[in-house]
Amino acid sequence: MHSSSIVVVTALVLNTHIVHAIWPAPRSFSTGNTVLWIDPTIEVTYNGKKAWGAHQLWGPAFNSEHILDTQETPFGANAAGTISSDSVAFSAIPRALASMFKYGLIPWKLHPRNELSQFEPAADASKTFVTSLCITQKCPQNNFKPLAGEVDESYNLTISKEGEATIDAISAYGILHGLTSFIQLFYEHSKGGQYIAVAPVSIADAPKFKHRGLNLDVARNWYPVPDILRQIDALAWNKFNRLHIHMSDSQSWPMDIPSLPLLSRKGAYSPGLTYSPSDMRQIQSYAALRGVEVYIEFDMPGHTTSIAHGYPDLIAAANALPWETYCAEPPCGSLQLGNPAVPVFLQKLFDDVLPRVKPYSAYFHTGGDEVNKNTYLLDPTVKSSDYKVLQPLIQKFVDRNHDQIRKVGLTPVVWEEMLLDWNLTLPKDVVVQSWLSDESVGAIAKKGYKVLAGNYNYWYLDCGHGQWLNFDNGQSFQNFYPFNDYCSPLKNWRLVYAYDPLAGVAIEDQHLVLGGEVHMWSEQTDPVNLDSMLWPRVCAAGETLWSGRHDSQGNNRSQVDAAPRLAEFRERMVARGIRAGPVQMVYCTQGNGTTCSL
Ligand SMILES: *[C@@H]1O[C@H](CO)[C@@H](O)[C@H](O)[C@H]1NC(C)=O
Ligand SMILES: *[C@@H]1O[C@H](CO)[C@@H](O)[C@H](O)[C@H]1NC(C)=O
Ligand SMILES: *[C@@H]1O[C@H](CO)[C@@H](O)[C@H](O)[C@H]1NC(C)=O
Ligand SMILES: *[C@@H]1O[C@H](CO)[C@@H](O)[C@H](O)[C@H]1NC(C)=O
Repeated sequence: MHSSSIVVVTALVLNTHIVHAIWPAPRSFSTGNTVLWIDPTIEVTYNGKKAWGAHQLWGPAFNSEHILDTQETPFGANAAGTISSDSVAFSAIPRALASMFKYGLIPWKLHPRNELSQFEPAADASKTFVTSLCITQKCPQNNFKPLAGEVDESYNLTISKEGEATIDAISAYGILHGLTSFIQLFYEHSKGGQYIAVAPVSIADAPKFKHRGLNLDVARNWYPVPDILRQIDALAWNKFNRLHIHMSDSQSWPMDIPSLPLLSRKGAYSPGLTYSPSDMRQIQSYAALRGVEVYIEFDMPGHTTSIAHGYPDLIAAANALPWETYCAEPPCGSLQLGNPAVPVFLQKLFDDVLPRVKPYSAYFHTGGDEVNKNTYLLDPTVKSSDYKVLQPLIQKFVDRNHDQIRKVGLTPVVWEEMLLDWNLTLPKDVVVQSWLSDESVGAIAKKGYKVLAGNYNYWYLDCGHGQWLNFDNGQSFQNFYPFNDYCSPLKNWRLVYAYDPLAGVAIEDQHLVLGGEVHMWSEQTDPVNLDSMLWPRVCAAGETLWSGRHDSQGNNRSQVDAAPRLAEFRERMVARGIRAGPVQMVYCTQGNGTTCSL
């Protein structure tokens, strides 16, 4: 149906700095200089079956990028808790293509002012089209709740000069990543239509790290489900594969636990600011279809004061003052360590939650950060702040929880303090999440544990916004002026990008670094600023986790190289409904990477 004559574009002068960037950078990527067009008549097959029809572009399912296939059937987990790779691929293909055709990017911000037309192919010449996209998955796997590394996420992508495209992958997740890259290769023309100017294309790609996550705190501030789904879309575009939900904290308990109804009824900030079991299923299956495994954290034994609203007898030191003595931030409180009602409560809590997690995730995070010894002076069942008294109680507490988690076939995750400060004896299946330093990551791996990196000096996105505490006039005002927070300065995308998850880890232990997570603690973030707090900074961590801190020559990746690609990707995210902040002002993006460099 399309003319196959090749357009000769003599007037096209490609700016070599703006070469149909892909974010995160693929492992290998070669391009030519042929122009191809693409339109919704493209034939797309998945393992030989038709997977796209142009009519799908106009159907009701595509009115919004963010409310796609969230219904439970046919794409939700079935009773056995599986989502087939067919349903992952068959939902991903129309989603990706519709998104490209509906939310195309006219790249005027990426070329010198008023010169866009010089960089665009002639719109009136005869056109060669990409006529087919043949998607092949070599090993249809149904497992979408893998442990890190169990799924091969690699893919190969080609587009020939003649307009034939292929995506090959082992798993459905590889297909997702290939599609994500494919649609980034096309621009919208200012006179209509979509094109790529760098065919033929050949990409071979695979992730550097197995665990590429965002930790989102939904307890300090609550987020409506659609806000979480929107972040899952953006995570998938950046080839992340984990969303860690920090589900509970001292300030609120937003998750409905039907067998312990007072937890959210009294512990949520307000009626309605909760996640029901069906909300959770929606989040989990929406993410699974996008290659993102959602896993949940109940932080404990500290960070649990919100439980006291419904079950006051379980919590020690609830709201104790002066709070600085008993906890890292108000309100203080901890589950009591010697109260026999606490294990009964925990058994019920996990019995309720774990079966609802199991179909969608391989992990459960039991927290364990910032346990404050003084809290237990006020615990009537302990009355001590002595490490020697507390340590065995915490060991018993964690063992009980982890045994229950293992019994349903999940793998426990803990914060680093449980291992490094409390010296707990933990079986080697436990994944230890580090946040305090590069040395911690190294020490955890040295002890033989699988570790998640995410040093707060680089990957805490809440930092640098200043104090959220108030200081009355007087000494504390003087002491804290000008009200910087403990982890100031702000981690801008360049600092996020400068972090090496392997820094501090001996070469022989590096295989134990599963990857890492960038963290969004929500004391000063809520649905109004969530997108711009996350994006584009999460993208910078995403490239490090997918592509590595170093390029193929072993050099540090450079901001000068990254900035134009990230600026382009940010525009694509904005076009698809993510309110990401700007990477640089237009003056810079209209130059090349060096225009605004030092
Ligand atoms: C991708 O291409 C490489 C190099 O040709 C090959 O070794 C690999 O098996 C291919 N992967 C897939 C998923 O087809
Ligand atoms: C930590 O535990 C190990 C073995 O369980 C023991 O050898 C070591 O002395 C302990 N360290 C501290 C600080 O208690
Ligand atoms: C590479 O980046 C690391 C931080 O990831 C930094 O410590 C190091 O100095 C950089 N090396 C060079 C040569 O710039
Ligand atoms: C980038 O832009 C600067 C300023 O306009 C120019 O001097 C430089 O030659 C350009 N570099 C490339 C590689 O295009």
